[in-house]
Amino acid sequence: MKNHLGYFLFLLLITSCTPPAPPPADEGATDEQTWWKEGILYQIYPQSFKDSDGDGFGDFRGVLEKLDYVESLGVTMVWMNPFFASPLVDNGYDVADYRAIHPRYGTMADFQAMLDGFHERGIKFVLDVVVNHSSDQHAWFQASRSSRANPYRDYYHWWPAEKGEPPYRFSFFDPEGAWEYDSLSNAYYLHTFAAAQPDLNWENPKVRQEVYDIMKFWAEKGVDGFRMDAFQYASKDTTWPEFPEGHEREVIKWYGMRPQLHDYLKELYREVIAPYGVFAVAEGAGSTFQDAHDLVDADRQELQTAYHFDYVSMAKTPDGYALADFKDVFTRWDSAFAEKGWLAIFLSNHDNSRLVNRYGNPSPAFRIPSTQMLHTFLLSMRGTPYTYYGDEIGMTNIDMPNIEEYVDVAAKGEYRAALAAEEDLDEFMRLLNYRSRENSRTPMQWDTTYQAGFTTGDPWKKVNANHQSINVAAQDQDPASILNHFRAMTKVRRENPVLVYGRYELIQREHPDIYAFTRSWEGDKMLVLLNFSDAPASIELNAMAGFENIVINYYPSLQTDGPRLSLEPYQAVICKIE
Ligand code: GLC
Repeated sequence: MKNHLGYFLFLLLITSCTPPAPPPADEGATDEQTWWKEGILYQIYPQSFKDSDGDGFGDFRGVLEKLDYVESLGVTMVWMNPFFASPLVDNGYDVADYRAIHPRYGTMADFQAMLDGFHERGIKFVLDVVVNHSSDQHAWFQASRSSRANPYRDYYHWWPAEKGEPPYRFSFFDPEGAWEYDSLSNAYYLHTFAAAQPDLNWENPKVRQEVYDIMKFWAEKGVDGFRMDAFQYASKDTTWPEFPEGHEREVIKWYGMRPQLHDYLKELYREVIAPYGVFAVAEGAGSTFQDAHDLVDADRQELQTAYHFDYVSMAKTPDGYALADFKDVFTRWDSAFAEKGWLAIFLSNHDNSRLVNRYGNPSPAFRIPSTQMLHTFLLSMRGTPYTYYGDEIGMTNIDMPNIEEYVDVAAKGEYRAALAAEEDLDEFMRLLNYRSRENSRTPMQWDTTYQAGFTTGDPWKKVNANHQSINVAAQDQDPASILNHFRAMTKVRRENPVLVYGRYELIQREHPDIYAFTRSWEGDKMLVLLNFSDAPASIELNAMAGFENIVINYYPSLQTDGPRLSLEPYQAVICKIE
């Protein structure tokens, strides 16, 4: 526990007299050591993790029951999706009160107990901050829409209807676009996501101050970091120019990363990040490496890290992806950040379908090794690795072929768009069934009891029928399980800073099946070999020795013949080499 009073008196002293000191010239070097670079993050989707009171929704007391489990994973950070007061149009990404907890998750005391429980186990806590937009039920929006003269009018973006229709703006969730007409004041308001998620006006300094105050409120409760939701879109060009036809093919370029955003982030850094010693990760990293550096380089004094979506967009259909593209994406981003700056990396989260379905092989023969291989990859790359709940046991997609079963606002919006465009709806549903984010929101599979041990009531979302074979209890004591491989990998990463800070070097880019690379740092060198194929594959590695110093291998052996190494389907191996 932090000593809050002493800390705040100290802060008052330093922040009232001096601005944060400029960083030393080399600050921001990739191998400069900090806890959030060394961290291993586990993402908890709270409504689906563990229900303690039988109402069918996961809650804080449920997480409390599972703290020892989370600790046993060897992770050092937890990011929890939003749990604030909300009408839940977008499962909590529509916040009605940023300082209040939705009752289904528990009380503030429950939150504090959970936070303390994480801290007692040495696990940092990252809060989701959803401030590109609020809920339309937020008191600010209710006041804002009530009349054009209301003092909160400028908290949101309004277009008076007497000026005619506003220039088109793209909406992620609404095929009709981002302006919604509101008859109460005869004006349109902007919503980059659903109509129930009006965009806050970041150009208004009062709005920014409100956000900093909210972040301070949670920092004072002891949270260690913030995930800035959809943040690259926060600043808008409020002259509302017409955008060219087809511009929405490059959404980030047209809608994201306006120059003013950086001024606001510097302000946020001065107000919250520096004085509270917290860190922040941006969802999205712009559309160029320069954008990403501008967000996260330490000497910019803005955010500390970010994650991009390039590898997500490559795996959107059941047809899979090319290993060469996968290698290229990771290699390009790594080299762009080899000297300076830091990124987070992930392959799955609450906005995508399950890890093994997208990047691995969910068939019964290969689900286990391919998931183990993907964990080996993520936990041996540079960048803070993010693992989504359930992936540590290899949970899979569910089958939802009918649109009526979907509750997700994004899926419904996409379906309306497909209908309007007269697309082939069978094909649309086939793809949605594969890529929908509902796939990854099913309840955590703890055991084989009623509702997989998630709840004693009716779960808010159907439990995957495969919980009879895929669950924590079945894997916990099995040394060959995905779960125990994940634990072994987090241990290896924690014990080997070379896997955190080491230089990454790709080997044999053109190899069709094997992704091979080395990591080197301060005299240590590790070789990582990953067979992405469902057939054996081999690779010849001349001028390297030490293959017998195996650190990770979930197959009984590694076949070597001089410099030639042969891997079983989806085998992954890490060895210390000379
Ligand atoms: C982010 C969240 C997503 C949410 C959207 C709107 O992309 O990850 O779940 O729907 O923002 O807040």
